Amino acid sequence: MNVLGIETTCDETAAAIVTVEEDGRGAILSNEVLSQIAEHAAYGGVVPEIAARAHVEVLDRLIARALANAGMALADLDGIAVAAGPGLIGGVLVGLVTGKTLALVSRKPLVAVNHLEAHALTARLTDGLAFPYLLLLASGGHTQLVAVKGVGEYVRLGGTIDDAIGEAFDKVAKLLGLAYPGGPEVERAAEGGNPERFALPRPMLGRREPNFSLSGLKTALRIEAERIAPLTHQDVADLCASFQAAVVDVVVDRVRVALRDFGPVAGHPTALVAAGGVAANGALRRALAYQAGEAGLPLVAPPLPLCGDNGAMIAWAGIERLRLGLTDDITAPARPRWPF
Ligand code: KG4
Ligand code: ZN
Repeated sequence: MNVLGIETTCDETAAAIVTVEEDGRGAILSNEVLSQIAEHAAYGGVVPEIAARAHVEVLDRLIARALANAGMALADLDGIAVAAGPGLIGGVLVGLVTGKTLALVSRKPLVAVNHLEAHALTARLTDGLAFPYLLLLASGGHTQLVAVKGVGEYVRLGGTIDDAIGEAFDKVAKLLGLAYPGGPEVERAAEGGNPERFALPRPMLGRREPNFSLSGLKTALRIEAERIAPLTHQDVADLCASFQAAVVDVVVDRVRVALRDFGPVAGHPTALVAAGGVAANGALRRALAYQAGEAGLPLVAPPLPLCGDNGAMIAWAGIERLRLGLTDDITAPARPRWPF
């Protein structure tokens, strides 16, 4: 089974071909990602209108390249999967209309994929993981702890009540004059910093429900930064290290609560899975790996190129749905909001 995956929900234009081997495992034949970071950098965040136009300009060529690099033509596909949301509506429409058109002209089944579900299922593509597992999904737009019980069977255990974790990293970076996207910049700056110099709060620590709150932490950091301004290079490093340490402490505590809540709703987990762009953070990965080990579970975190937005995860989610006979038709809507 060969499936084309198309991703245009945010600031990455992506197309990939994924196939299923004899043993049921997935294999990525091509994975083309074009980031729009340069187009948005001057604004310190993603500008929806610029994003939609940039997707239009490159998507057809990117799909052609994904097919060519997999040594395939449209006729060799068994399905076309496209992210139909949640995301920026202009970009979602560009991808969805393209996917529908390709499905119509090639007479292949269409799968309208939930972008979050695709992040959630990536660990099955990379590691052949069995259900159920605990998912920490942390990106620029989402922060959730989810019991993944099966394809289409997701129980949300907790999530953020304000900013997403990636969003908090991005805002802190902007505040400190670092480049966009902020996550990798903050992580790099933190390497030379003292995580104990600033006593930042650990919001939600110890709370009964595995929820997150990031905006107070960001505000506390801003107050510290203003107090000691003008900032030296070392001040920025120390602020980043202190912020990252606070985030890691909070995540570890929230995951602990989610692991406790997991059993009654989903049984014994096979793994702790970290997905979404924030899962690229080394300090967070190390802390989660230690924590998972303590709970007797493996930590499964996709390789870095598959943590951020990509087409392979959309294609794989398409394969998972196609195997269950779940397809969509030309009326599938573009959904700016689409809880899962
Ligand atoms: O999943 P993703 O590529 O896009 C969506 O938001 O859907 O995630 C991007 C987010 C950004 O907020 C970025 O700052 C954050 O992930 N991020 C990181 C790191 N790399 C990316 N956050 C912390 N540490 C990192 N190394
Ligand atoms: Zn994403």
